[in-house]
Amino acid sequence: MSSEKTLRELADENDVTIGAGVPARSFRQYPDDPTLAQTLKREFNAITTANALKMGPLRPERKVYDFDDADAIVNFGVENDMTVRGHTLLWHKQTPEWFLAWDYTDDQLEAFVRDHIHTVAGRYHDKVDVWDVVNEAVADDGSMRETMWYEAMGEAYLDKAFEWANDVAPNADLYYNDYEIASDNDKADAVYDLLQRLLDRGVPIDGVGIQMHSLPSYQHSREGPEAVGANIRRFKDLGLDVQVTEMDVAYGPDEEFDDRLEHQAQYYRDVLEACLDNGCDTLITWGVHDAGTWLQNRYDVTSDPLLFDENFNPKPAYDAIRDLLESRS
Ligand code: G3I
Repeated sequence: MSSEKTLRELADENDVTIGAGVPARSFRQYPDDPTLAQTLKREFNAITTANALKMGPLRPERKVYDFDDADAIVNFGVENDMTVRGHTLLWHKQTPEWFLAWDYTDDQLEAFVRDHIHTVAGRYHDKVDVWDVVNEAVADDGSMRETMWYEAMGEAYLDKAFEWANDVAPNADLYYNDYEIASDNDKADAVYDLLQRLLDRGVPIDGVGIQMHSLPSYQHSREGPEAVGANIRRFKDLGLDVQVTEMDVAYGPDEEFDDRLEHQAQYYRDVLEACLDNGCDTLITWGVHDAGTWLQNRYDVTSDPLLFDENFNPKPAYDAIRDLLESRS
């Protein structure tokens, strides 16, 4: 018979980290409804800032930082003894409008990025346990993505970003994070090669985050546990830690199953099992409940990709990963 232990209790017993990425609007949207906070602290032992630490939300003006949303999420994590993941120090998306309009020189951009990383990672040096330092530096075809950072500094921007983060947050684990790298494919190969080069150059990188948005358009994030496990293993063999950082499981309108939620549950379980069997101890879902998913209002995918339904009731996916952890306790 199943015990009454929560997901968090079972995760703690197994030395496993189960987290959720939380947009600040979730906190703002339910100011008088403690359900989100209660579910988070009862069921998860990690929390990720889904949007609040990205440059756009964080920097309304060039010289103005607004840390309110990020502080709310980070402090919630610290107060509730959760592992806090900071997402993300450097990404080409969600940059501020004033930034896009700024006519900088390469040197100015480099100084700007250095100050940004020093300021943000420095502020949370004793609160954020894991940073997604650079997000999505590789394009879908496996070439280096031609971001503003890449154009100004070349590939060395990654080296610098990790070094700047390490300057001010030497105790945090520093991650490279990307999508479509869950199995053996051209992009995953390119990320593998990039990580190898960073390690060869002595860059202070600790791990790689596999986002795992399992959607119809992301074929390599829907592959079976053997492929996912083998890919985790090869990243581990580089000497890096591996985490599943942004998991959700959605389907296209034409994908029909006898019971879609059971299929979803099985995939969550399979991925967690592949993770645990191959030396990865962390799975973060990209949201807590279905009402908070970034996939709402999309015509092309189902909008119930998470572990809890819109009323915070646990779904079959919750039971599936809880049962897996219980079976390993
Ligand atoms: O907060 C503003 C709000 O003030 C405004 O009224 C509203 C109008 O559109 O926009 C709100 O901002 C939105 C923000 O999410 C918060 O909801 C942005 O428009 C929207 O673009 C933004 O989307 C985020 C997306 O990244 C940006 O590309 C999603 O929430 C976020 O879940 C998603 O997360 C990314 C990871 O960071 C990296 N990996 C992929 C993942 C999914 O795309």
